[in-house]
Amino acid sequence: MKRLPIVNTRVALVTGASSGFGLVTAEKLAEVGFTVFGTSRSGAGGPVSVEMLALDVDDDESVSRCISRLIARFGRLDVLVNNAGRAMVGACEETSAAEARALFETNVFGVMRVTSAVLPTMRAQGSGRIVNVGSISGITGVPFHGVYAASKHALAGYSEALRHEVAPFGISVSLVEPEAHRTGIAMSRPARQLALYDEGRDGVEAIIRGQIERGNSPIHVAETIARIASTARPKFRHGVGKKATLLYFARRVLPPRLFESLVRRELRLSPPNFDGDERVGDPLPH
Ligand SMILES: NC(=O)c1ccc[n+]([C@@H]2O[C@H](COP(=O)([O-])OP(=O)(O)OC[C@H]3O[C@@H](n4cnc5c(N)ncnc54)[C@H](OP(=O)(O)O)[C@@H]3O)[C@@H](O)[C@H]2O)c1
Repeated sequence: MKRLPIVNTRVALVTGASSGFGLVTAEKLAEVGFTVFGTSRSGAGGPVSVEMLALDVDDDESVSRCISRLIARFGRLDVLVNNAGRAMVGACEETSAAEARALFETNVFGVMRVTSAVLPTMRAQGSGRIVNVGSISGITGVPFHGVYAASKHALAGYSEALRHEVAPFGISVSLVEPEAHRTGIAMSRPARQLALYDEGRDGVEAIIRGQIERGNSPIHVAETIARIASTARPKFRHGVGKKATLLYFARRVLPPRLFESLVRRELRLSPPNFDGDERVGDPLPH
């Protein structure tokens, strides 16, 4: 028998809800009254209070199948949380175009796919909230995290543009940019590693892994997302954690050289060596 759409409930979809931020966010949204669907590639995992669906954000077919089933069943979608993502550590020079493309496939194109699939329904409703999970790596280019940072900067630009485009239809777009939190986030390395970057790459990886292990509980991210989902006019950028707040401020007020030196100091990187290059400043040949 064909199920009739249920219209008297607010429906939320959280991608990547089998673990980490997505799991806790799905649980939180259910707790505050949403009918929540979570996703993972296999459709397994996630909180007990939430129905899980199979969705691979890298795959057009998988996205369109999952979203059309959800819409056929409920006839509406009030909140989309684009959370599925993964990280990568490695020098920019070490990372192949194929490896970078694979990361963008999930962190950027995955978000675009799912968003474009839900927009017709949100436009028809005249309402909706889209919450994209970025990172503090979308605020500054974190060294040895360059391709991940590029993906989160791309996500930030896309989200900001989208916010303007869909606001006339009653749809709001927000970006949540957490500092490192305690999750089991996958962090791959490029296949080809260059020994000259070992010290920098391994040092930054150890610092980031340490920050994740000692990081705050993902509940803070879930609470921020639940607030965005329930607020009448959510603002665009939401940093989560002291470091995120500090970064917004430092980026706005500090002179660029001072900002750069703070990033290097935080990641215990050696200072720049531009002065050794005598050619810099030489007059150009005529
Ligand atoms: N942890 C942090 O410190 C931190 C900080 C800032 C931002 N973030 C961002 O937060 C988001 C969530 O990360 P997390 O830390 O919670 O990591 P996590 O625990 O590893 O969760 C990642 C989720 O994404 C799903 N996923 C991965 N690839 C997918 C794909 N191709 N299609 C569909 N789902 C996919 C995973 O599900 P399956 O593997 O089961 O399919 C999993 O549910 C990411 O966007 C990450 O960049 C994390």
